[in-house]
Amino acid sequence: MRRTDTLRGLVRETELTPAHLIQPAFVIAGEGIREEVPSMPGVERFSINNLVEEAGEVATAGIGALMLFGIPNAKDEFGTGAYDDEGIVQMAVRALKDAHPDLVVMTDVCLCEYTSHGHCGVIREGSTEVDNDISVELLAKTALSHAEAGADAVAPSDMMDGRVGSIRHQLDEEGHSGVPIIAYSAKYASAYYGPFRDAAESTPEFGDRRGYQMDPANAAEAVREAELDLEEGADMVMVKPALPYLDVVRRVKDATGAPVAAYHVSGEYSMLKAAAANGWIDERAAVVEALTSIRRAGADAIVTYYAKEAAEWLR
Ligand code: PBG
Ligand code: ZN
Repeated sequence: MRRTDTLRGLVRETELTPAHLIQPAFVIAGEGIREEVPSMPGVERFSINNLVEEAGEVATAGIGALMLFGIPNAKDEFGTGAYDDEGIVQMAVRALKDAHPDLVVMTDVCLCEYTSHGHCGVIREGSTEVDNDISVELLAKTALSHAEAGADAVAPSDMMDGRVGSIRHQLDEEGHSGVPIIAYSAKYASAYYGPFRDAAESTPEFGDRRGYQMDPANAAEAVREAELDLEEGADMVMVKPALPYLDVVRRVKDATGAPVAAYHVSGEYSMLKAAAANGWIDERAAVVEALTSIRRAGADAIVTYYAKEAAEWLR
């Protein structure tokens, strides 16, 4: 059954199409800007008008959704830019939905791009640790402002305890019961986020994120995290990064049966790009193989910086 492509097609177990992919996008203040992220060849940061143009291509390519990350002009201790109705993400969402009503726009909900210290939550006074509960309140406020701007789904990536329940409650109270929550349930304290932090200017000023992101050595804990988020009202759970954690994707899928997303992160992307640039791998084949593996492990959707290119290759 492997002899010809048609025979292989008859028995292929895993399907990979552009509709399974989510394209991350970085939006910055200003106008007429598109600048490449040095550590992520092929990935650009767009000002709103340019992003609207880019999103048109993403929609035409049949990609499932856009996942929006904002880079604000100013940062402060409490990350106020994250929940400002005139903030960068809120304005971008309005412009995107206005121009492309059918494009699914998801927003990353976190404080790290907006806090002066670069942590995903607020730092408790006189310490270097995040204050879980105050952070949760601000995250819920952020998610609500995204929904009010017209986001189709919100994706909290902070890893604070109880934020999914709090966001669900807040959204329901304010008339957004139809907005789903895609929870980054098993987000590991990973070395593979380096290039993203360049792109989002969100490298922590002190310490690291191991106090709230997961220990790479744990998998059973990921299942518990996913189950908790689902109990709190998550509609989809996410595992991140993807390739080093395919066992976790499988365990979460089998244990919960819920819709699962996997985030093929910046470091995974940049490694492939670097090897390809050196002529060491066949980029197209390697990328399709990686994305197929993530689907085979049990992911329904894949967040990947390769979405647009892969959509082209999968046509
Ligand atoms: C932070 C956040 C991170 C990513 C998305 N949102 C990681 C981090 O800085 O801890 C990583 C995405 C990537 O590496 O592609 N909330
Ligand atoms: Zn964060």
